[in-house]
Order: sequence, then structure tokens, then C-alpha cells
Amino acid sequence: MQDKVWIFDTTLRDGEQALKASLTEDDKLQLAHAISRLNVDVMEVGFPVSSPADFRAVQRIATEVRNPIICGLARAISKDIEACGEALKPAQRGRIHTFIATSPLHLEHKLRMSLDDATAMAVKSIKLARKYTDDVEFSCEDAGRTPYGDLCRIVESAINAGASTINLPDTVGYVTPDEYAAMIHHLMNNVPNIDKARLSVHCHNDLGLAVANSIAAVQAGARQIECTVNGIGERAGNCSLEEVAMIMKMRQDHLKVRTDIHSEEIYRASRQVAKICNMAVQPNKAIVGENAFAHSSGIHQDGVLKAQNTYEIMSPESVGVPNNQLNMTSRSGRHVIEHRLTELGYQKSDYDMDSLYESFLVLADQKGTVYDYDLEAMIYFNQINDDEDHYKLEFVNSTSNSQSVASSTIGMTVGEQSKQEAATGNGPVEASFLAIERITGMAVEVIEYNLDATGQGASSLGQVDIIAKYNGRQYHGAGLAADIVEASVRAMIRVYNLIDRAQKVSSLKQQRKAG
Ligand code: KIV
Ligand code: ZN
Repeated sequence: MQDKVWIFDTTLRDGEQALKASLTEDDKLQLAHAISRLNVDVMEVGFPVSSPADFRAVQRIATEVRNPIICGLARAISKDIEACGEALKPAQRGRIHTFIATSPLHLEHKLRMSLDDATAMAVKSIKLARKYTDDVEFSCEDAGRTPYGDLCRIVESAINAGASTINLPDTVGYVTPDEYAAMIHHLMNNVPNIDKARLSVHCHNDLGLAVANSIAAVQAGARQIECTVNGIGERAGNCSLEEVAMIMKMRQDHLKVRTDIHSEEIYRASRQVAKICNMAVQPNKAIVGENAFAHSSGIHQDGVLKAQNTYEIMSPESVGVPNNQLNMTSRSGRHVIEHRLTELGYQKSDYDMDSLYESFLVLADQKGTVYDYDLEAMIYFNQINDDEDHYKLEFVNSTSNSQSVASSTIGMTVGEQSKQEAATGNGPVEASFLAIERITGMAVEVIEYNLDATGQGASSLGQVDIIAKYNGRQYHGAGLAADIVEASVRAMIRVYNLIDRAQKVSSLKQQRKAG
């Protein structure tokens, strides 16, 4: 049996601390459930003394989330410990996490006290925390810049006072993996009562080393990693949960440790954190980025189709991503096009690969990415002709202000007919989409809506990208305009035109079959 490394999630505490807008109690509860499905061992969910809202959120999560140990943060001050202990009362298993800075820099400039004074405060707080729970964690803030001798002294006292987890944060993301491993080794070999506590690490990512440092610490004997989903957190963020979890899963052969993380839940949790925290994941982010399982190079695509492990060290399914993605771009070979068409239900006799591939390359050069519906349209029309658009925008007239609901009137040409509809909504974009839905008589589900600016400053154009679903298929529409509502409307009308074309393709398909 391999040694277990505990996963301590602090998305809702260190992660939340870094958000531009704080989360509501409901947001936090929703995220707490998503993170709990990952099967983390401990979930740090707030800093109860910091505000009544944080207190209530910790209390509510402690009441409603049952699986992990629920943890609250407290400075080494009595009122913090008391607030934390009270907020955690409903928890089945609650942990108080108390901390004080130990580095000479923090002691001198921030706390203006000696290490002995800090040790006395830590001991007093740990003893008080033990009155609320047996599970007390103590952190030496800025441990990464604390002399080993000082660390050993305060850690020994903290364990004697009743702390069963000792956390050694690299608060400012300064140390390198070999230095961090050496620090863990030193503590393991020089603190006489160290066997009575689990050693934990908490790394920030200022130099991009949070994950590497955490793994180095595990190799040196640490058995708890503090981390956040998507690596969100103060400044450059914290150690990323999904990365350390997958490193320990994929490299068990080398690291000889395991976690209890349910890795198939990773993608879902990542999406929820990104959405609720309004913090997008960079596309090339390991494990959960949009491109993490997307292959663009023709050579790689060909390799993956022959044997997945040629260019994939783990399967997308293992982290909950539905499938790997072969981006159809000008670098894609015929093999990939054929594979995709087979997946869409076509046989080789349904198309002429030479002419199809020629049209494909022209379109891929124009558009960048070619979608399934483009491929199908090429089979039937052999080219894409935007002049044939069924839906055309005539005008958008939207109004919105901070006091009343937004409304929008849309004028469109549908085939030969001119049509007009009005609707209200939460904002002018929603109102416009509803008006378009009334005109077309088709309700699409918007899966993704992205607004970007092209150009500089206030005169930038708004670019809207929409991914929408209709009858189980996804469509991508983009729109560009000086007015962002108009850009949104143009993107949505593009989606409707693609749906219309897909419907024409489908009726041609039927006719072909029948005849
Ligand atoms: O980075 C840090 O030192 C912390 C402590 C409060 C654990 O977040
Ligand atoms: Zn931190």
C-alpha cells in the first residue's frame, strides 16, 4: 500500500481571498459541494473572524457539507480562534487552522515581536483551539524564509501544545524545490516530537514553482499538500490541485504515494470554479485548460489516431474531459478528416476526399478552425457561401438602464420576408436573443458567451463569440461591431444561419438516401 498524501483544498479561503468580487454564501456552498465531490481530505472554507458574511458561509458549509474535514483559518489571537471554533460547531469533523509569521522579516516589520513572543502566542492559541476540536493545524507563515533553527523551535512547541498538522508555507513563492525539500528533511530529522504531527506544505506560485515545490516536499516526507482548484490564490496563485493530484496519480511508479482524489471530477470542479469565481482558465493550463487535450499538429493528430499514448500521457476521460479533441485546422491531414466524418456517420463513398480536402484547406485558411457542420456543408455544397444566409440583420434597437429591465427590438430578413420582434430581459443582450428567438421560432441554448475588445481603448470594437447548442449539435458564431449588443446579435444570427444550413444539409441527406 502506498503512502497517502492528504489533499487540503483552500480554494474557498486562499483562492477566494484573491478574487476581485467576493463570493456570495450560495456561491461558496455550491463550490464547496463541487470540491467535496473531488474527495479532498480537508476543505478550508473561510476566515470566520474576518466578516460576518465569512462567518456565516463557514457555518453553513460546516452544516451542509459532510464528506471532508471542514477547516477555518484563524490568526494566533483568541478572538479569531473563538470565532472559528463557533463557526465550525455544526461540522461533523472540524479543523481550526491557526498561524503566525516566523521569518525575521515578518517578525521585525509586520509583527514587531520576537520569535519567543510569537511562539507563546502560537502555543496559547493552539491550546485554546483544542478546547473546540482535537484537529488543530498550525502554520509558520513565511516558513520558506525562516532559519531552520527557529522553525524547529516553534514547531516543537506547537506540537507539544496540541497541533497535529504542521504547515510550512512558502508564503511568497520564493524557494526552489531543492531548498524546500531540504527544509522538510531538516524538520523531520531535528524536531524531536515530529512523529506526532503530519507535515504539510502550502506553496505560492510567484516564480511558477508552487507545484514543483509541493512535489519536492512530498518526496522529502511531507504528507499534506495545500492547494486550490485551477491554482487560484493570492498574487500568482497557489499550488494547483489538479496538477499535484494528477502528478501523484500518473507518476505513482516514481513517487510511491497516492491521494484519494476522484480525478474524473476534476474538469467539472475546474469549470465551476472558473465560472463562479469569474476567473477564466488559461487555454494551455495543464490538465484543465481548453487545449490540454487538443491536438493541432497534423503529425500529432495522426499519431493519436493510431495509438492515443503516442501524444497523450493520460486520457481526457481520467480527468472528466469528455473526449480528446482533434482541432480541424489547415495542419490537419486527410486521416483526421476521414476519422471525423466516420464519427459523424459518413462512409467513404459519401464524398470525394480529394475535392473535399481541397475545399477544407481553403476554408481552414480563412477561418482557422473548421467545425463539423462546415465539413458536412462541404460534402453537400462543396463550398460555403455566406451570401446564401437565410437570416440577415436589419437593425437592433436596445435600451437599458440601471433602474428598469432592458428591452430590445430586432429587425431581420428571413428569406424574402422582413420581420420584427421585441422582448425584455435581464440585460440588452438577453432581450435581443429572446427577440431573435421569437423571429426564428427556434430556441438555442447558449453554452459559452465571450466578449473581447479588438483595437485600443474606448474606440475598440466589441467581438462576441458564442457557442450555442441546438438539437444536440454545437454551433459557433462570431460578431464584430462598435456596439457590443450589435456584436452579440450578429454572432447569434450567424449561429442561426449555421443551423439553417445544417438543416438544409440534413434534408439533402434524406433526399439522397431516398433517391
Ligand atoms: O500563504 C500563507 O502563508 C497562508 C497561511 C495563512 C497559511 O496562506
Ligand atoms: Zn497562502
